[in-house]
Amino acid sequence: LSVSQINQDLAGLKVVITAGGTHEPLDPVRFLGNNSSGLQGIKLAEAAKVRGADVTLIAGVVTVPLPHGLDVRHATTALDIERDVNDLAPGADVVIMAAAIADFRPVKRLDAKIKKVQGQEPEPIRLTKNPDILAGLAANRQRPGQIIVGFAAETGDETGTVLDHGRAKALRKKADLLVVNEVGDGLGFGTPHNTVTILDAAGEPVGETTGDKLAVSHAILDHVAKLAADNRK
Ligand code: CTP
Ligand code: CA
Repeated sequence: LSVSQINQDLAGLKVVITAGGTHEPLDPVRFLGNNSSGLQGIKLAEAAKVRGADVTLIAGVVTVPLPHGLDVRHATTALDIERDVNDLAPGADVVIMAAAIADFRPVKRLDAKIKKVQGQEPEPIRLTKNPDILAGLAANRQRPGQIIVGFAAETGDETGTVLDHGRAKALRKKADLLVVNEVGDGLGFGTPHNTVTILDAAGEPVGETTGDKLAVSHAILDHVAKLAADNRK
């Protein structure tokens, strides 16, 4: 299969994708972080590019190599990602928020290393909320027909299943598509494979896929392409 034979169904679309985790600094040498590898977002970027999109990847903290030839912006904290997203969203036809963004950050980043003090317990770390970038994007669309895709990393618990939580999140976030995946105990984060359920804006399942993260990316982009085609009608 040559590149020209691959379906170019995203040709002409500007696609912005966030990937990876964030590091929220505590002091010059320490941070609060998470286990995201960045692989799903990176595979999405590769897949969108193959399908003809003009892709910018906002890479948070990633533990896998970034592919060559991709337009990449580097970000470390949630606020860095917010800045880059706000910068690029006005020109984007599609924004995909695959990054695992810290919900909270330390209230203060200390200028000097936190030191142990003999005979004293450590000070508690005070946290504050980070902005919800996805909800913000969906609440004030930058251009008509802009397609916004979110992810939801969920675990089932006594209050509901993975899908129950996903549906509630879809309604809360108001994204056009929400990709729900079950995480924890060897699922999702850092694994080559993923099982996801894709929900529409109403929280209804429109697809389910299992496969490596590139295959899952193409399944997600099939739905993005469908929405983009509807917009053109
Ligand atoms: N997200 C975001 N800004 C944040 C936190 C999350 O834009 N401060 C985005 C993520 O990139 C993802 C989606 O929101 O696309 C859902 O993230 P998730 O952590 O599953 O949901 P939260 O709304 O943070 O809810 P919770 O973690 O409490 O389940
Ligand atoms: Ca969260």
